Amino acid sequence: MNVIIVHGGAGTKRDLLERKEAVIKAVESGYKILEESGSAIDAAIKATVILEDSPYFNAGTGSGLNIEGEVEMDASIMTDSLECGAVACIKNVKNPILIAKFVMEKTDHIILSGEGAQKFAEIMGVRSYDPTTKKSKTLYNKLMRKIKAGQGTRYFPRLPNFIEYYNTDTVGAIAVDEEGKFAVTNSTAGVILKLPGRLGDTPVFGAGLYANELGAVSATGHGEGIIRLCLSKEAVDLMKRNSAQKSVSIAIRKAKRYNCRCGLIAIDRKGRVGWGHTADAMPSAYIKNGKLTYKDWI
Ligand code: GLY
Repeated sequence: MNVIIVHGGAGTKRDLLERKEAVIKAVESGYKILEESGSAIDAAIKATVILEDSPYFNAGTGSGLNIEGEVEMDASIMTDSLECGAVACIKNVKNPILIAKFVMEKTDHIILSGEGAQKFAEIMGVRSYDPTTKKSKTLYNKLMRKIKAGQGTRYFPRLPNFIEYYNTDTVGAIAVDEEGKFAVTNSTAGVILKLPGRLGDTPVFGAGLYANELGAVSATGHGEGIIRLCLSKEAVDLMKRNSAQKSVSIAIRKAKRYNCRCGLIAIDRKGRVGWGHTADAMPSAYIKNGKLTYKDWI
């Protein structure tokens, strides 16, 4: 079937040109793998690694810092055969999505977290890497100065209000290969200034992503809101009677009713794509029948 869609996070319009460039590079690289008869897993992973390696997203290199000034990342992968793997609160790795894939393919578990996830990454031969950048440290220092000065503290306990001003910029991809197999991924450092140990929706199957015989969905945005609504599973269930786009639109309408700032991408069994968000922008691209389509805020 060979269809792929990627997203660069539901958030603000900041750095939209740079994010557009990275999203297009990711979708084209993933599609090339599909065209060369590669698997949906390899295509979705390749696209996600490219987005993790771009400093313009809150995933991998350039990730946002938690309240203690450290990067804790979540990433996950799922296929339509219900194979799953995720890491949560992992530090000091370059590509959390690759560790999530190792969890899926090499262990009897689904989610590894914290130090256990890091130890597992070491066992898999993954080298230690500091994903912070000058830009992410500058943003952290700026926000902390505001918080310490008493500004913004009233927003901090209420993340839905807080993230209105800052990006979550989770990244994700869905690919369908020649054999009609689906793979869906997600990767993030979560909401900036989160408390240490906090998991968002990204490593939570059914919330941040889901795939089964009906199709696949990847979510981005305010993790707590997405978890409460089990948004990805809800959108996949809707594909029983609706196209990917209709299913995403219905799920997004529900998210709006719950004041959940988020976005969804989807592909259904017929290879139709779906896209929608409640944020200011969500840079995304898909390739179907060789034709590339890019969308961000409309
Ligand atoms: N969707 C990213 C997060 O809330 O962690």
